[in-house]
Amino acid sequence: MNPKILVARAVFPQTLALLEQHFEVTSNQDDVLWSPAQLTEQLQGKQGAFTTGSERINAGLLADCPELRICANMAVGYNNFDLEAMTAAGVLATNTPDVLTETTADFGFALIMATARRMAESERFLRAGLWNSWRYDMFAGSDVHGSTLGILGMGRIGQAIARRGALGFGMKVIYHNRSRLDAATELACGATLVSKQELLQQSDHLILVLPYSPEAHHAIGADELAQMKPTATLINIARGGIVDDAALAVALKQGTIAAAGLDVFEGEPRVYPDLLTLPNVVLTPHIASATLPTRLAMAQLAADNLIGYLVHGKALTPLNPQLVLA
Ligand code: DGY
Repeated sequence: MNPKILVARAVFPQTLALLEQHFEVTSNQDDVLWSPAQLTEQLQGKQGAFTTGSERINAGLLADCPELRICANMAVGYNNFDLEAMTAAGVLATNTPDVLTETTADFGFALIMATARRMAESERFLRAGLWNSWRYDMFAGSDVHGSTLGILGMGRIGQAIARRGALGFGMKVIYHNRSRLDAATELACGATLVSKQELLQQSDHLILVLPYSPEAHHAIGADELAQMKPTATLINIARGGIVDDAALAVALKQGTIAAAGLDVFEGEPRVYPDLLTLPNVVLTPHIASATLPTRLAMAQLAADNLIGYLVHGKALTPLNPQLVLA
């Protein structure tokens, strides 16, 4: 008998068709947002789960789903997984690195551009019928080319953004990261390592690309915002909770920084209400990896991880590979 899996959110029909060749599949094509209790119930008797960032896999759920062997996340980020608890329970965790790097970097850059050049704000103005004449300072923003790009978190996506900044826009690129890149990678990215304080103080456009972890919670709060230039923009395409959204709203109101571009939010899909009322923030609904080819590649990789592990005993991108090697 084929293993049983749960596809916890709606997916591409072709992904579902592929999974159905190997598994007895229960799927949520109606895309109902299950509570943790409903997710636990749906997972009963399943050996595998196809998850997204919305499904929390923690010790409590694992204790109630003893047959579960793998959760394949269709996301590179995996802060919805308690990796320690999964490893202790012998449940393999996988994510979808690499396939979304360039697409996500494109979006990061788009958000830098949209924020610096006030594109959302000026479009709202035009659509509201308020454009009556040209004016010398109308929606004058800040330059991207030739400015200083700061990157907090320098993994694959950070590096892809650095290359765009250095090679495409002639930017000075500085970064702060737990570990320093090797010299060849730094050269290819045109990036220089600086302290977090220098990053905050020197960046004209600061983009966050670090993974969420308890240590990264509110890595950008009132103190950090106060160190930034009043002309600076802050871009978050990483995870909600890395920025203190309430402190950011105050900073945007008071002119501590000029503008922000946010694709991720604390407690999303809720958005801190003040952010919705401010003109100088560009808001998008967690879509940095959202192009059809990339989302398809992410879904394919998550499916390949399930097939690889449950059918052949080997996953492509395991997060706790010690379980496979054991
Ligand atoms: C990711 O892959 O982590 C994106 O944020 C989508 O969840």
